[in-house]
Amino acid sequence: MSVKDDVLKFLLENKLEAVSGEEIASSLGVSRNAIWKAIKALRTEGYEIEAATNKGYTLVSDNNTLSEQGIRKHLNGNENIDLHILPVVDSTNNYIKRLAGDGSPEGVVAISEEQTAGKGRLGRKFESPKKTGIYMSILLRPTFSAEESLSITTIAAVATAKAIETVSGFETQIKWVNDIYMRERKVSGILTEASVNFESGKLEYAVLGIGINVKYPEGGFPDEISDIAGAVFEEECGDDIRCRIIAGIIDNFFEYYRKIPNSNHIEEYRSRSLLTGREISFIQGDEEKSGIVRDIDDDCHLLVEMPDGSIKEFSTGEVNIKKTFLKR
Ligand code: BTN
Repeated sequence: MSVKDDVLKFLLENKLEAVSGEEIASSLGVSRNAIWKAIKALRTEGYEIEAATNKGYTLVSDNNTLSEQGIRKHLNGNENIDLHILPVVDSTNNYIKRLAGDGSPEGVVAISEEQTAGKGRLGRKFESPKKTGIYMSILLRPTFSAEESLSITTIAAVATAKAIETVSGFETQIKWVNDIYMRERKVSGILTEASVNFESGKLEYAVLGIGINVKYPEGGFPDEISDIAGAVFEEECGDDIRCRIIAGIIDNFFEYYRKIPNSNHIEEYRSRSLLTGREISFIQGDEEKSGIVRDIDDDCHLLVEMPDGSIKEFSTGEVNIKKTFLKR
């Protein structure tokens, strides 16, 4: 860790309390000049640090800035995970893919304040404005089969839903297969990309990307998505909310992931299912059909009751849901 990171850690541990430059310097074993330089750099990053003669430095607010320490202090069991915090990036999924290509090990997490080319599923764009969202990706090198790897996405949906609920205190729902909804609006999406070795048929790596609208962006969402997009918080929320949600996702995700293929997340998934009991219309092949969602099975297939009373089972990618009607 750099001196700046160490100083930030110290200030975060003593948030709202004054600590003298001398105290920080002697505790870190560096000069007071190095502390002063670190404070200056942290202020440029957005940290509000007051300085008072004879008292020292007080971290008044982190101005909702994402920081490694801010996240790490909320982790529970994954404290040594490799975190890369970026001010801006094209896409955290692309960033992790580059690391994967360079041989980085499983478990690296990249988080960015902003994405300039955030990617959604089906080639869509994912709006990723500065400071109001969470844009994170995790590098995975699964040793289990490609089929078993399909549960990465559903595990991530449960991990994300639970972290949002714990931190916000609000209910979430999962719209099959991997969108998180709150108050009938999409607040989070997941994009998992993988590289397969054609000879062995095994996964070389998978990149799990999670995007969350934590707050409404200034000026609202763009017109194309303003009907469906929502945010976790409708009102102002506390300073380190994003750090807490990120830490919760990491802890929840790895707890389930380490247990694949014996993960027991599906009950949690089912209990949050937005579509169960609702009528949907969907495209299968070239045809538009409709039916009522009755359940989600253990392999995360959607079980739909068709107009003739038969139950049809659909897997991800087989159907494209066009419309969801309210429960009946
Ligand atoms: C979707 O809703 O279609 C999926 C959205 C996934 C967005 C996340 S944000 C972090 C990661 N980087 C990306 O470019 N996409 C994913």
